[in-house]
Amino acid sequence: MRQDTALAARCKAALLASFAMGEGSFEAVARVDDLRPGTVTTVYAGETPVALARVGDEVYAVQHACLHLKGPLGAGHLEGCVLSCPWHGWQYDVRTGENEFDRAIRLRTYEVKVSDGEILVAL
Ligand code: FES
Repeated sequence: MRQDTALAARCKAALLASFAMGEGSFEAVARVDDLRPGTVTTVYAGETPVALARVGDEVYAVQHACLHLKGPLGAGHLEGCVLSCPWHGWQYDVRTGENEFDRAIRLRTYEVKVSDGEILVAL
């Protein structure tokens, strides 16, 4: 019984440590001033391309490859919260990643935070 308690404590500590490591995984990808409201662009978090969109003062990050045929969403068109793929026009809500016509289809979204004018993305 005592061993179970010790094991549970070690598991809890490992779990908390993994969350703490996740906190440190944000990566600076751009400066806020370089991303005008109403625009989307391609940035890299390490080797991973990300479509970075600015809607007003909010910044959103979604996977770069469109779920249709992997079109480059960072080269798409942003209207409000809706990002249109430049290849065939599939549309996604950058806040949720959801496809506008079929909500069951969803892009991967990434957590974003802004610190000292830098946009940071966690993959
Ligand atoms: S590749 Fe994006 S709509 Fe076809």
